[in-house]
Amino acid sequence: MPVSSAKTNSRNKSVTREKPINALSGQIGDFQFSFGIDKTSQTSIIKHLIQQRKYQSYLEIGVRDGGNFDQIEIDVKVGVDPAPTTNANFKITSDEFFAAIDHTFLFDLIFIDGLHLFEQVRRDLRNALNHLSPKGTVVMHDCNPPTAFHQRAYFEVDGKFPTWNGTVWKAWVEARCKQPDLSMAVVNTDWGVGIIQRGTQELYPVNAQKIDYDNFDEDREVILNLISVEEFIERY
Ligand SMILES: C[S@@+](CC[C@H](N)C(=O)[O-])C[C@H]1O[C@@H](n2cnc3c(N)ncnc32)[C@H](O)[C@@H]1O
Repeated sequence: MPVSSAKTNSRNKSVTREKPINALSGQIGDFQFSFGIDKTSQTSIIKHLIQQRKYQSYLEIGVRDGGNFDQIEIDVKVGVDPAPTTNANFKITSDEFFAAIDHTFLFDLIFIDGLHLFEQVRRDLRNALNHLSPKGTVVMHDCNPPTAFHQRAYFEVDGKFPTWNGTVWKAWVEARCKQPDLSMAVVNTDWGVGIIQRGTQELYPVNAQKIDYDNFDEDREVILNLISVEEFIERY
């Protein structure tokens, strides 16, 4: 349940108050998650899944400064990043990490937040699914770029680094069009937090290679299977 979801109007009737939407990144505000009240973000989504599903192991691809990683409390926690600004367990690329580990090595939750380019995210997703425990979840950041600029090919623009979601959305689209054995939804917060589990889905009935950003933009709610934070808390 959202926190403070109702207020009283001048006639003393109870009315629903919508959670604010940041026009760019999605829903914002405090929510009652499984682990307690918290601001909605990639981190609260991950912590909710860990608590709700009693997960014991976690892999984060792309740790950077530990902003998310350090907040995750779990028995087994592994971070992979070739250029972290904090300690990462494995200072190598995700490709190198997956090539080095045994196929029996499984994680309950894998957070994909490394190099935000289609080909890399596609490989990260394939590898993550190969190393996911049977009831596990892959969480993928930056699935919902709000404009074409946000999904440009390069992070840097004129020596600056404006918000960049990259082409993660293309890897999402491919799985939505080709993998009936997955259950997929994107939570409409924090630039689109993708939730992928083993299950079933009705495929998006278009050749993934023919979907450009304009096509994606026109039908993003269906392609992403976009859900609110309230729906996420209720379903997951
Ligand atoms: C968006 S940041 C990660 C933010 C972090 N997950 C958080 O939420 O606090 C992306 C990180 O991915 C790392 N990265 C880049 N290429 C990578 C690769 N091939 N494998 C793993 N990580 C990579 C970068 O060094 C960078 O630190």
